[in-house]
Amino acid sequence: MELQALFPLALARVQLRLDPWDLALLMQEVLALRGEAEGNPEPGCAWTGDINGIWQVHRLEAFAAITAEVERQAWSYLEQLGFRAGSVALHVQRAWPVVSEAGQVVGRHHHPNAHLSAVLYLNGDGTGRCGCLRLFPPRQPNELVPGLAVGHGEPIDSASAGGRQWNAPWLDVAPQAGLLVLFPARTDHAVTANEDDDDLRLSLAFDLALTAPLAEPGDPAPPEYLAPHPAQWSAVAAPA
Ligand SMILES: [Fe+2]
Repeated sequence: MELQALFPLALARVQLRLDPWDLALLMQEVLALRGEAEGNPEPGCAWTGDINGIWQVHRLEAFAAITAEVERQAWSYLEQLGFRAGSVALHVQRAWPVVSEAGQVVGRHHHPNAHLSAVLYLNGDGTGRCGCLRLFPPRQPNELVPGLAVGHGEPIDSASAGGRQWNAPWLDVAPQAGLLVLFPARTDHAVTANEDDDDLRLSLAFDLALTAPLAEPGDPAPPEYLAPHPAQWSAVAAPA
């Protein structure tokens, strides 16, 4: 019997060859942006720049080169998914650092504001000790009875080869310095605890949005299900 994998979710992993000196500078910048903060308001949660006023690192000079590289990789991801060249415009909507102290986590969430998410790890040795990115499947189509893959009693052995391939409740990605991952922004994800007492875990997160390309006079209308380019939106004044 052959089981065929249908409709896979596309996780991109790219190991960027970054100069260790450049990585060190980025880490220094991130720590300076974090300042005295040690975490988010929720107890045990890592410090995430997006809710602490540091949500536009893509507009800072120190992050210009790495942002450009993330943008190149995002185009490559779209190309590999089958997007036609020139058919969409891509926007970095928000970009922020994340710093996990020992024991800190980021709870399960997704990014409904965006279409494509990217994370670049500034450190990490590939073991996952400093906390893994945990990606959750959008659905568990093979657990047959909803809830079995994570429920108690374990009729599905998720450690078996079959369980891992067909009923994995999540997939963990271990940070490695220079590793970039990209995935659909609607994918639920979390960050597991930093179990390294001696080291911070540092990453940069990017949210990207797809729209229609900027339409010039005489161009065809934007594709039906893509928002027109934001430069062609009209702001609606709030009521007085
Ligand atoms: Fe996230």
